Amino acid sequence: MPKNFILIDKKIKSFNKKIKVDGDKSLSIRWALLASQAIGTSKAKNLLRSEDVNNTLICLKKLGIKISQNKNICSIKGRGLNGFIFKKNITLNAGNSGTLGRLILSLLIKSPYKIKIVGDKSLSKRDFSRVIEPLKKIGVNFYPNSKSKLPIYIKGTNYLRPINYLEKRGSAQCKTCVMLASLNVPGVTKIIAKNSRDHTEKMFKSLKIPIKIRKSSNFDFITLSKPKILKKFDFNIPGDISSASFFIVLTLLSKNSKIILKNININSTRIGVIKILNMMGAKIKFENIKIINGERCSDIKVKSINNFKSIRCPTSLNSAAIDEFLIIFLIAARANGISYFKDLSELNQKESPRLKIAAKILKSIGVKLSFDDSSIKIYGNPNFKFQKKIVIRDFLKDHRIFMMSVISALSFGGSWQIFDPASVKTSFPSFLKKIKQIGGNLK
Ligand code: S3P
Repeated sequence: MPKNFILIDKKIKSFNKKIKVDGDKSLSIRWALLASQAIGTSKAKNLLRSEDVNNTLICLKKLGIKISQNKNICSIKGRGLNGFIFKKNITLNAGNSGTLGRLILSLLIKSPYKIKIVGDKSLSKRDFSRVIEPLKKIGVNFYPNSKSKLPIYIKGTNYLRPINYLEKRGSAQCKTCVMLASLNVPGVTKIIAKNSRDHTEKMFKSLKIPIKIRKSSNFDFITLSKPKILKKFDFNIPGDISSASFFIVLTLLSKNSKIILKNININSTRIGVIKILNMMGAKIKFENIKIINGERCSDIKVKSINNFKSIRCPTSLNSAAIDEFLIIFLIAARANGISYFKDLSELNQKESPRLKIAAKILKSIGVKLSFDDSSIKIYGNPNFKFQKKIVIRDFLKDHRIFMMSVISALSFGGSWQIFDPASVKTSFPSFLKKIKQIGGNLK
């Protein structure tokens, strides 16, 4: 049987490198879903080749969509709005992906047959009522009716009605679910959404879907009407800032090191991590800024820092840094003073109860902290290091917990046995290869 863990017992030595990270996961899944609804063959360059995206493509193929991959180009032959063709009794498997599991539902709202949606152990523990409720208001049926978790059956209807939807979590998945549903709903769909990543809005605009957005400080007022058709659209997918963040933090915590991360998506709704780290004293810079397919992209330049300031993290940045908090906590562990992060109950709704698991790991390596269901206080120590042995397992194979553990081992020292390395295939398949490329010693 192949080894199901890695061993790290050396900190990383100084490095000075230029690397690329894998394509953006949010953009890859959205592009594939929307391309399936367009007429003609859409092509994407640098689509993320991870399990979450692969599962997206497998689901679309089951729904009658022709997909081919050639070198770095993925082609999807869309069948138009609600153009899926499929047999009775199909099951769609969203694997580990909350984004896929939740968003695919909104493309099935006219399905004449029941379709079963399943996911892996982690996804089957996650809340789906957040998307089931608005879809039920639109007219969609779910079986069993009162269930809020996968597996679940969805059956569509021809009697769809537009809704007024208030999204107050700051969840882009919930907002996008209603936005995708509006593609098949007659009349005007209205959404008031707490700020969250806006990739879907940007894609809708470039697809010429009738959309109006009025912004206020914390909420967007979005008005949508059903488009007539969607035309095929090509996309050039930049690197994922959530993946890049592991290398940003590793560089910040290492001695005399520098890194340039090439062509990363720096959409303003995704760079909470950069804002937070710069508030803590990092001097992260964007270079060669370009707009590609409506998305702002750039190289990210980072160098090591000796002194980090603690932070009372503004909750207005929570949504824009939601996938990066685990790694931000590592900087807080080395900061001068007490850092406080609050209103983060959503972190416990991810692939694992992340706030709880991260606090447990940090505590067991000697970081002083206190936490509850939605907040964490980290008592930083600028000289923090770890010299003992630790085993990291039982984290529901959460890719980001695995990567956070690797970065902790390479930055803080000690001897680490970290289980489930294959978890990185969810979002960042080349993670360990890139770690080795910059000199990380893994066994
Ligand atoms: C995502 C939105 C976020 C994020 C997830 C990807 C997306 O989830 O955590 O990794 O692509 O829309 P929520 O919308 O549930 O906050």
